[in-house]
Amino acid sequence: MKQVNVGICGLGTVGSGTFNVLSRNKDDINARAASNIVVSHIGARRPNSACDTTGVNISADIFAVAEDPDIDILVELIGGTTVAKDLVVRALQNGKHVVTANKALIAEFGNELFDIAKNHKVTISYEAAVAGGIPIIGALREGLAANKIEWLAGIINGTGNFILTEMRDKGREFEDVLEEAQALGYAEADPTFDVEGIDAAHKLVILSSIAFGTPLQFEKVFTEGISKVSPLDVFYAGELGYSIKHLGLTRKRENGIELRVHPTLIPKTRLLANVDGVMNAIVVKGDAVGPTLYYGAGAGSEATASAVIADIVRVSRLVGERVNLNVPPLGYSLDKLSSDDVLPIEQTETAFYLRIAAVDKPGVLSKISQILSDAGISIEALIQKEPKEDQEFVPLIILTNKAIEKNIIDAIEKIEQLDTVKENVVRIRVESLK
Ligand code: HSE
Repeated sequence: MKQVNVGICGLGTVGSGTFNVLSRNKDDINARAASNIVVSHIGARRPNSACDTTGVNISADIFAVAEDPDIDILVELIGGTTVAKDLVVRALQNGKHVVTANKALIAEFGNELFDIAKNHKVTISYEAAVAGGIPIIGALREGLAANKIEWLAGIINGTGNFILTEMRDKGREFEDVLEEAQALGYAEADPTFDVEGIDAAHKLVILSSIAFGTPLQFEKVFTEGISKVSPLDVFYAGELGYSIKHLGLTRKRENGIELRVHPTLIPKTRLLANVDGVMNAIVVKGDAVGPTLYYGAGAGSEATASAVIADIVRVSRLVGERVNLNVPPLGYSLDKLSSDDVLPIEQTETAFYLRIAAVDKPGVLSKISQILSDAGISIEALIQKEPKEDQEFVPLIILTNKAIEKNIIDAIEKIEQLDTVKENVVRIRVESLK
């Protein structure tokens, strides 16, 4: 059996998990790879007591791994887009295959890195970059290759999902749950990446590019976080039969591609609405296969290592082979990528949940419905709560039908100008995911 030398850069949560699973399941992994996979060099500033690296060459300078002539595959697990990018470029230029779990790096610099890899006749693989242990990249790139993908939607940030689940089930406040998510190690080094949707946007743009065969366009993802979702809206959504989830959604429309991350009301009857805690799930709708669902741990040491090692196995089969059997990085040949535009958020089509603080007197509701009706928006459901004693404004909860977002935003502006309406109207998008 040929020997494949792997260099791991970064020995944190995912790096140590990768090292441990590779050594624990060595026989099965080698049999699948038809190779003897050896971790022969580690680049890490300090050892990690979670793994026994006795006998492995360890360099404090990670670039020593990229320069090591014996390394066939460099595994980048340091994160970030500065040093990590330099490291990956150096490895590719030195003719090494790269495996990475770095979603930010692929989302923001993937187009450039894929070209460098192609020019040096090596590959860059990133199964672990999206949804941790769920093999969604392989499923989209290979398993669903027969299909025209119509849309996909997913819960792809575990921290955000954990926060929303705790708010719904225990009525806890946002800040309080975020602190717990950080203590449990779910959150990114900068937790605003989780709660403001940047992490989910990184993952979504990768999925969208593979689904529709477009170059990565991270700067075009519409991103809205969950920091403004209040327990009140979680409660009212529940009364209407919905759960609020932080959803990444991409859909092919005739005039372009929708690409958006935001809090979303989903009917409780949908499987996605029942994905709780730190778990991730993605629904992909293909024209031939119909809807398919992928569910599993979206983060964590060995769960993410599972995806990293899947890439190591796949790439090991290529090492030393003359025939190019590699799957292109985005599934489509790089010279066949389409130039479909990403639609601005105003042109996307969606339904809305509105919470309006209105004076409880005759005629107010009819004015609001008139504004919506003038904009061609019909009301799907409505709840008005009885005012409590001395309460001047009562919450009015409206679910609209699907409409072009700009029309809804214009109607909301008019509603906000009514002197019988207080404060800004709370609005959250709704997706039926049919
Ligand atoms: N912070 C990320 C999450 C880790 O919560 O999903 C996995 O990408």
